[in-house]
This record gives sequence, structure tokens and C-alpha cells, in this order.
Amino acid sequence: MRTPIIAGNWKMYKTVGEAVDLVKALLAGLGSGHGREVVVCPPFTALYAVRPLLVGTGIALGAQNLYHEREGAFTGEIAPGMLVDVGCRYVIIGHSERRQYFTETDAGVNRKLKAALAAGLRPIMCVGESKPQRDAGEAEAIVTGQVGAGLVDISAAQMAEVVIAYEPIWAIGTGDTATPADAQAMHLAIRHTLGDMYGDAVAQSVRIQYGGSVKPDNIDELMAQPDIDGALVGGASLKADSFLRIVHYQ
Ligand code: PGA
Repeated sequence: MRTPIIAGNWKMYKTVGEAVDLVKALLAGLGSGHGREVVVCPPFTALYAVRPLLVGTGIALGAQNLYHEREGAFTGEIAPGMLVDVGCRYVIIGHSERRQYFTETDAGVNRKLKAALAAGLRPIMCVGESKPQRDAGEAEAIVTGQVGAGLVDISAAQMAEVVIAYEPIWAIGTGDTATPADAQAMHLAIRHTLGDMYGDAVAQSVRIQYGGSVKPDNIDELMAQPDIDGALVGGASLKADSFLRIVHYQ
């Protein structure tokens, strides 16, 4: 069975103080025995402050990006080992905002994935189509192409550490969610691609999150889909009550 994984992508929000307050509120409301893995991905500047609060709790720490080199003269970048050092277990890679605004390519995503895995981090690899691509009937080809290109030279054994997040670009931050049926269809297509690459056992074990305007009022029907194994949540992860309701989906 795939353990559901709900991750909060805080994007470029929250000061250190606000991040600490949000984590405290999440811990107060989380409870135990819910059978879900929970991850928060604050901005880099808050990781160090948030980490001690999370040790030994049911919430894992993640980052939103990394650079693929181990160290060096790369002004402004953060190395995989630095994220491990500060207590991260997960890292989001290839978010559509990074592909769109920071010109990240599939090849770059693949480099970052390898670097994350080499450092012992679990990558959350994001894929997703734009609105024009969906309207042109290309969504599945685009998304499965991103999956294949992002995972070049990643071994079957390494796939145990990889989470995939399907996030249609037109659903991110728009309030416009994919229907559960459309999301399920894409998740199944991704799983088929994983099956072609790694065989059925691996395909059945990899967790595929849905992302894009996930909210308390749509999480239940999304999670009821057989191939949706969790959510990557942006806006609704910035407030404790809405994120907790999502974590505690029915
Ligand atoms: P959203 O963002 O939930 O605000 O749509 C999701 C994401 O970008 O990961």
C-alpha cells in the first residue's frame, strides 16, 4: 500500500516568525494515527528555525528547490547537502513556477533529481501541462514526456525515494481544479509510463500527488481516486486550519 503524502508548498510566503507560528499550530492540531505522511516546505530562510520544532513529530521538513552541484562558486544557490544539514528530508524539484519563471528544463530537473537522491533527499518531482497544451489535446503526451525525461538514469531502486506531483499549470493558484476524473486519468497515465520504464511493481509503489488549487472542499473527492496518493498544496497550506483539514481528508 502507498502511504498518502500531503505536502505544503509555502512558496515565497512566511517570515521566520510566521513560519514558526504556523508549524506550532499544525503540530497542535495534527494528532496521531492518521496514517498519512505530512511534509511542510517553508522558504529557505525559515528552515533552520522550523527544524527543531519538527524533530520527532509526524511532520517532515522539505525545501522548494536546490542546485545540482555539491558546492562551489554558485552565488545565490543552495546545495543538496546544505538541505540535509538543515534537516530536510524532501525537496520539491521542477515546480511549474520554476520551469516558467526560472527557465528550468527537463534536463535540469533530471540533474537536480540525481543530486537530491545522491545527497539522501527524497525528491518531489513536479510535472504538468499548460492550458493551451490541454486544449490542444496534448496534456498526456506532455506530462508523460516530462516524467520520462525527468527520470532519465534514475534506477528502479531509487524510485522508492521519488514522489511525483502532477500539477496542471492552469489549476495552480487559480481556484480551478482538475476534475477528480481528469486528475485520476492523468495519474493513471503517469503510472503506466512508470510501468513501461520500471515494471509494474515499481509503478504500483510510487506515490503520485495531485496539486493545483487543492482545498478543504475538494480534497476528499480527489483522494477518493485510486491513483491519487496525496496532494501538493500551495495557498491552502498557508493557514493551519485549511491545511489540517486537507491532511485529515475523509
Ligand atoms: P495552489 O499551489 O494549491 O496554490 O494551487 C499548488 C502548488 O503550486 O504546488
